[in-house]
Order: sequence, then C-alpha cells, then structure tokens
Amino acid sequence: MSIRERIFAAVYDPLSAKPEAKFGAAVKRKLLANARGRVLEIGVGTGLSFPHYPPDVEVVGIEPLEPMRRRARRRAEDLGRDVTLVEGAAEELPFEDASFDSVVSLAVLCSVHDPDRVLAEIRRVLRPGGRFIFLEHVRSDDPQLARKQDRFERPWGWIAGGCHPNRRTLESIEAAGFELVEVQHEERPDIPRLVRPHVEGWGQTPSGSDPHKAGA
Ligand SMILES: C[S@@+](CC[C@H](N)C(=O)[O-])C[C@H]1O[C@@H](n2cnc3c(N)ncnc32)[C@H](O)[C@@H]1O
Repeated sequence: MSIRERIFAAVYDPLSAKPEAKFGAAVKRKLLANARGRVLEIGVGTGLSFPHYPPDVEVVGIEPLEPMRRRARRRAEDLGRDVTLVEGAAEELPFEDASFDSVVSLAVLCSVHDPDRVLAEIRRVLRPGGRFIFLEHVRSDDPQLARKQDRFERPWGWIAGGCHPNRRTLESIEAAGFELVEVQHEERPDIPRLVRPHVEGWGQTPSGSDPHKAGA
C-alpha cells in the first residue's frame, strides 16, 4: 500500500466530519432505509454508513485498504453492530452469484478502476429483484464545470484516493441493466465544487417480484 493511501485513510474521517454532519448522515439514513436482507457494501471505507442501516439487515463490507478496514472494524465494535469485513476489490467480488438481497455503493464508483466491471459484478452477486443502492458524485451537466472536472481529473485523483470527478455514473448504472426505481440529482454544499453534483437512489436487477415488498 502506498503512503498516499495511508494518508488518505488517516484523513478520511476528519475531512468527512463536516459534510457528514451537514448532509451525509441524513442522506445515508434515508437511502439505507431501502436496504433489505443480506447487504453487501462495496468500498466500505471507515464504515461511516454503519449507524444508518436498519437494525434487521445483515451487513458485509468489502474494502481493499487495510487502514480503512481497521477503522471500519472499530466503528462497528463501538456501535455494537455485527459487520463482516472482507479484503478485496469490487471488480472481483469473492461471493457467489445471487448471494445478496442488496448492494450499496457510497462514493465508490468514482474511485474504482473499472466501473463497468464493478457494476457487472454487483449484478452477478445480487439475486433477481435485488436492490442496488447508490450515492455517487458525478460529471456535471454544466459544460463549464464538466470541463474543469476533466482538466483536474488527475491532480484531484492524486489527492483524493484515485477519485475521478468526471464519471457519467448514472448512465453506467443504467447501461449495466439496473431498473431505476428512485433517483435524485443534488448539488451538495460545503465540499469542493468539482465533486458537488451528486446522484443518489436505488435500482433493481430485472426480476419479477420483490419478496420484500408487502404482499409479494
Ligand atoms: C471516497 S471513499 C468512500 C468510503 C465510504 N463508502 C464512505 O461513504 O465513506 C472510496 C472508497 O472506495 C474504496 N475503493 C477504491 N477502489 C476500490 C475498488 N476497486 N473496490 C472496492 N473499493 C474500492 C477506497 O479504498 C475507499 O475506501
């Protein structure tokens, strides 16, 4: 692991404190209310999501960086929450086909090496009708800001854990075959302009019926 990755893990919580308090915690709580059953969270980081899961879901987190996993483990212990943490990358999920009811990605598709492969893996591990819940910052619709996101892609990635601020993530989610159920576009305050445009919501793998829906 590089020194940059270690520093990224060490500063992640302090730098996230203000945006979490301002909007992150509330948005996570609202989104994660849609999680059902056995849940996989990719790129779980330091576990900022853990307090916001409904109590009756089982959470498995995958994360490549050991210092992030260590902090996530500590957070789960402090919360008294049973979370299984696994080392690995979302491009190659070490799980069986159709083995999760929900998959969660919170600010991760901006950082992975190959978003299309990750989305294909998410589809593979979700059962038919399973839920993909996402909160991602994306390429701006404003051409001027989008140009800036392109121009600063490399330096931004260098300081922000390999993040690409200019990805068309919602389009990728749709192209991967998820049926979108709820989507919201938001401009988030109090974070650098490059990463303010966000999409959040959830979609489903094509299915048939959702066994978690009342009456289904
Ligand atoms: C911006 S952080 C978000 C962390 C956490 N999801 C949150 O909301 O606070 C991105 C996370 O994705 C992880 N990550 C980067 N590449 C990944 C990959 N290929 N597979 C899974 N996780 C990855 C990083 O190590 C980091 O923890």
